[in-house]
Amino acid sequence: MRRLGIVTILTVAAATASAMAGARRAVAQQESPAAKSFWSDVTPQSKDQPRGYAPYQEYCTVCHGAGAGKPGTLALQAKYKGAKPALLADRTDLTPQLIKTYVRNGIAVMPFFRKTEISDADLDAIAAYLTRNNPHDKR
Ligand code: HEC
Repeated sequence: MRRLGIVTILTVAAATASAMAGARRAVAQQESPAAKSFWSDVTPQSKDQPRGYAPYQEYCTVCHGAGAGKPGTLALQAKYKGAKPALLADRTDLTPQLIKTYVRNGIAVMPFFRKTEISDADLDAIAAYLTRNNPHDKR
């Protein structure tokens, strides 16, 4: 059990390192095909999405998106073991206040984001997007 925990942490740490490296490389044309598909879920279909969809794709899905090697999704899978969706975008129990607290303070390998990186308006929009399917009393 303890060994499994360490393996999970190492997996999440390794995935985080590669995700952060990918984010820093910017959208370079010489990216490998794998790296291209990493970025390809960032842009399309955002036209009909809520205001917070685009900043969420830009700042969060590098770790909280679907697919292999996303450290946020992996960590939440390990934390809730399926009791809650591993994808933040599928959750219906997050509150705007909780989301903002995590984003401004960070947690574990999740970095905090300054207002110069994600404005209050963008963070409000991200929080609204992630709580869009909540039951009304959780908004
Ligand atoms: C570098 C990777 C990374 C990025 C970028 C990132 N996160 Fe996270 N996030 C994580 C990890 C890993 C966890 C789980 C931490 C833990 O509990 O061990 C997490 C946890 C969270 C949680 C807590 C969920 C819960 O139920 O415990 C919220 C909310 C959250 N992130 C929101 C966001 C939002 C919104 C963004 C974009 C602004 C974002 N994160 C960007 C890695 C990241």
